[in-house]
Amino acid sequence: MAEFSASIAHEICQPLLGIAANAAASLRWLQRDVPDVEEAIAGLKDIRAGCERAANIVKALGALARQAPLQLQILKIDDVIREAIRLTQPVLTAQRVRLETGLFVDQSIVADAVQLQQLLVNLITNAVEAMAGSGRDSAVLRINSFTLNDGVEVCIEDNGPGIPADRREQIFGAFYTTKSSGLGVGLAICRAVVDAHHGRIWAQASASGGARIRVQLPTCCY
Ligand SMILES: Nc1ncnc2c1ncn2[C@@H]1O[C@H](COP(=O)(O)OP(=O)(O)O)[C@@H](O)[C@H]1O
Ligand SMILES: [Mg+2]
Repeated sequence: MAEFSASIAHEICQPLLGIAANAAASLRWLQRDVPDVEEAIAGLKDIRAGCERAANIVKALGALARQAPLQLQILKIDDVIREAIRLTQPVLTAQRVRLETGLFVDQSIVADAVQLQQLLVNLITNAVEAMAGSGRDSAVLRINSFTLNDGVEVCIEDNGPGIPADRREQIFGAFYTTKSSGLGVGLAICRAVVDAHHGRIWAQASASGGARIRVQLPTCCY
């Protein structure tokens, strides 16, 4: 917890220091004999971006902290997957992602629909971002679900650059990101959601060398 608090402090402190530095610079541009408004505006834009970043970190942490208690209901995982696809459809369309689904779960589970929604949206978003960044022209996202002996599995696979084997656990830690404007809390939230449901989440390589994220959830988590 101490380590976690330290990293939160660090994450929030960075944009704040940037804001302070930009404010000081903008003031200097304006206080010149001939004020340079252009430079001051550029500084203000950076300040706005820094504020948004700090606010996003606080919001994401709120989401991470708000996990408990679960609002349990009987649901079908395939319905939650379809809803997550509907929510992310605009991004999938914009990035020209080909979506292939194989949803085969008939069995109901007891789970928190909103949290599972958040989990799936995070995973789809990461897959799309990974494929967009890899410069491929044929992005393919595969979402499959299966029935297990005592639960269900969801498998999300992309053909992006994949995750190096030695990072496949690290990515679930808070604030781990390789994106210039990433927060690195998406997968930490996913892990928290899955833990709360007594399930498992882990990363593998997909057949195409991209990432495959597997999520297993028990039929009943209490
Ligand atoms: N589908 C994926 N393909 C490749 N790398 C991924 C994928 N999903 C996650 N990652 C890696 O895990 C990191 C952490 O993801 P996440 O916690 O969602 O934070 P963020 O998306 O803000 O970077 C990403 O920055 C990326 O390096
Ligand atoms: Mg993410």
